Amino acid sequence: MEKLSSEQLRSCYLDFFRQRGHAIIQSASLIPENDPTVLFTTAGMHPLVPYLMGAKHPRGKRIADVQKCVRTVDIDEVGDATHCTFFEMLGNWSLGDYFKKEAIGFSYDFLTEVLGIPKEMLAVSVFKGDGDCGKDVESADYWVKKGLSPEQVYFLPKKNNWWGPAGLTGPCGPDTEIFIDTGKEKCSKNCSPACDCGRFIEIWNNVFMQYNKTADGLFEPLSQKNVDTGMGLERTVCILNGLKSVYETDLFRDAIRLIEEASGLTYGKNDGETKAMRIIADHIRTSAFIIGDERGITPGNVDQGYVLRRLIRRAIRYARQLSIGASVLTELAALYVELYKDVYPELAANGDKIKTELNKEIEKFERTLTAGLKEFEKVAESAGGSVIDGASAFRLYDTFGFPVEITEELAKDRGLTVDKAGFDAAFAVHQQKSQAGAEHKFKGGLHDSSEETTRLHTATHLLQAALRRILGDGVYQRGSNITAERLRFDFSFDRPMTDAEIKEAERLVNEVIDGKIDVIMQEMTVDEAKASGALGVFESKYGETVKVYSVGGFSKEICGGPHAANTGELGRFKIEKEQSSSSGVRRIRAILI
Ligand code: ALA
Repeated sequence: MEKLSSEQLRSCYLDFFRQRGHAIIQSASLIPENDPTVLFTTAGMHPLVPYLMGAKHPRGKRIADVQKCVRTVDIDEVGDATHCTFFEMLGNWSLGDYFKKEAIGFSYDFLTEVLGIPKEMLAVSVFKGDGDCGKDVESADYWVKKGLSPEQVYFLPKKNNWWGPAGLTGPCGPDTEIFIDTGKEKCSKNCSPACDCGRFIEIWNNVFMQYNKTADGLFEPLSQKNVDTGMGLERTVCILNGLKSVYETDLFRDAIRLIEEASGLTYGKNDGETKAMRIIADHIRTSAFIIGDERGITPGNVDQGYVLRRLIRRAIRYARQLSIGASVLTELAALYVELYKDVYPELAANGDKIKTELNKEIEKFERTLTAGLKEFEKVAESAGGSVIDGASAFRLYDTFGFPVEITEELAKDRGLTVDKAGFDAAFAVHQQKSQAGAEHKFKGGLHDSSEETTRLHTATHLLQAALRRILGDGVYQRGSNITAERLRFDFSFDRPMTDAEIKEAERLVNEVIDGKIDVIMQEMTVDEAKASGALGVFESKYGETVKVYSVGGFSKEICGGPHAANTGELGRFKIEKEQSSSSGVRRIRAILI
């Protein structure tokens, strides 16, 4: 195997595809432009969605790149050998050009000839077939024709061998995934790439994007057949160099060394300390990329800003665990800027901003961290050995700046849990109070106001569902603001609605209200919510488990609540105004009478 550095792997990957007619494009921003349902770019295909759907790409039908990606769904896995919240994805695309045969041929040749991976070390999975799409014997045959033995090809179901869409709707299809078979039998004889025992390490995925998943959960054939591939840079460098984890590659080596020096500890000696070192190295790298992005984000309390805050504060907590001063985190960020400056010049261009924002956030959190940890000790003691109540978790968040996920982690270390529903409820009440306060429209007692806003909140879900039925799947919530008197809903749509469309939206919402339908809440993981077709922002700030509110088959959204119990409670729905909010975004004001 070729012991390539990360820089060498990037360039030989791009060279290989350039020589095979692919145009090389720049990595897009980490903040997706085409998909408001996802906070970060999670795959190389994300910025290419319009072209996968059929729009003409200015650089042609064969594209390749190295895309920066952030996935925080795996945040709890960070610290093991292979997971990172930021990673680079090497990818090649056919936009209605070549398909399975060539794609598999390219992958096989690159892995065996360029990287020199012995074919015996490879294993691949292909789609087993179901009602949506047939068994992919074609791909299996191509793998065998290229040189794999049939035993190296595993047929797996949709759960394992179907990719996308990245958000709620969009291009997706069956895939064939490529693994390194470490050969170590760790579990039963029937071990396959579907098993998470660690024997198989996924390095590359080829997706045959032939479908568009609609909001109704249907798979419509796309006008063109595409190939979308993604190879993890960190993992592949790790394997090529025979390393135990991605944190030992050239992408992390200096960062780990800096943490070792600052802490006086040795990486690899103690599991807990090694994990903390990896978490710090990972989270600060991701934070530097998010702040230093061309559409850079700063720490905040919602959406991307909240994810960033959570990453920085989590790194600070682990730094404290290793007795490292938080200023080392800024040094670490500077080290990453230097390391990546040639590949991602935006990092160097935003070097000062990264330092300033990181320092500001460190100062903010350090001011309350000691007191917060003391408060946590008190709360933990009074938890009676089991559950930390929601109000206490909210106080730790509101007064001491502890993201609820940090409180949960601290609780877990003590064998305790946090009443998440209680936290969400305290959070929702606080939001209503502060919204009402900010708008000076807080009339009457909290109780009255919260009933009104609860009903309007449910009406907002019905409105979004109605708009998507009338105006199409391109409609997504871009903002929502509710007072005791009215709702205000911003959504993606690029022209004024006609009077007839406005009337139809009112009629549909009132029809659902008249249907007296129960509003059902279910808790599930983000993946389950996504699979169920729920609308909402994934990579939610509430972490892995989310609440999904459904109204019959009409509306299904991820949401913190609270909501009315039955649509019959809502009364009459009336749209008062429809106007422009910003470019490509419309705003509706509506009331319940
Ligand atoms: N989009 C595919 C993935 O992320 C290649 O695995």
